[in-house]
Amino acid sequence: MTSTLFIRTSKYIAYLCMIMPTLSFALDGETIMVHGGANPAAMPCISCHAPDGKGMPSAGFPRLAGLPAAYIEKQLYDFKSGSRKNPLMQGISSALTNEEIIAVANAYSKRPKVNVNTKQTGLPVPGTGAWIALRGEWSKNIPECTLCHGPDGVGVGDSFPPLAGQSPLYLENQLKAWKAEKPTAANKKGVPPTRSNDPNGLMQHIAASLTDAQIKAVSEYFGNLGDATEPFDESQHRLR
Ligand code: HEC
Ligand code: HEC
Repeated sequence: MTSTLFIRTSKYIAYLCMIMPTLSFALDGETIMVHGGANPAAMPCISCHAPDGKGMPSAGFPRLAGLPAAYIEKQLYDFKSGSRKNPLMQGISSALTNEEIIAVANAYSKRPKVNVNTKQTGLPVPGTGAWIALRGEWSKNIPECTLCHGPDGVGVGDSFPPLAGQSPLYLENQLKAWKAEKPTAANKKGVPPTRSNDPNGLMQHIAASLTDAQIKAVSEYFGNLGDATEPFDESQHRLR
């Protein structure tokens, strides 16, 4: 009787010892960033999003540090489902379990947010990126970006991601990913959108109304608002 109990208990302990390391490995967001998920196809995030999570702006690899956890989770599920297409991130997100997605999203959301450099925000000159960002172009039904993305593009809540300090090339790529191109003589079918995960097609409508030059200008405007050298100012991250 006692010996059966002993065998059962030791079997239980042996089982726990077997699963514990995998569990703690899989569910620790910081570990996933550095070593990837339990499935080797879920490559370490730091190799592209940088060890500090600030991304690699010139390569178009976005900053993840300080983005809302719910937004990061949504993007990873959208890559998995294919409503957002990217060859690198589709493979990686599909190899992550839902528990790993929650853990890594939480870990990135706890990293410092971008320290917005508001000093560059002057009175906008018509036709510039700053003008589109702060005033929009209502004659073409383009609302000002700050209406949804917050003052200076710092982001609002879980649904409206920060644009300030994000890689300009990455922002440009996203707007072009939403903007389908009309068929041309060379490309009879045009270029279908590779991103269609925005609620109610909000961003798709806006991106489609912007010219490529406007896309570049507004992406550079927001990207260059990033990472002021002064200490982080929490007051810039609230709606005024
Ligand atoms: C091999 C390079 C690479 C690796 C490794 C990688 N990523 Fe990415 N990631 C990218 C690229 C490139 C994009 C931008 C895709 C696009 O343009 O749509 C991206 C975009 C994202 C986005 C969308 C950000 C936004 O603002 O919408 C999230 C979230 C993300 N990655 C999370 C992760 C996580 C978590 C890991 C680690 C498990 C990871 N990535 C590993 C290259 C990588
Ligand atoms: C009506 C609200 C609204 C307005 C106005 C708006 N956006 Fe957005 N934007 C969103 C939402 C919602 C998302 C997140 C979509 C998703 O879940 O993937 C988004 C996402 C983005 C992204 C992707 C960010 C990332 O990290 O991947 C970019 C780039 C962007 N918006 C640029 C702009 C620009 C530039 C303007 C102004 C010309 C603008 N937005 C105006 C609602 C808006």
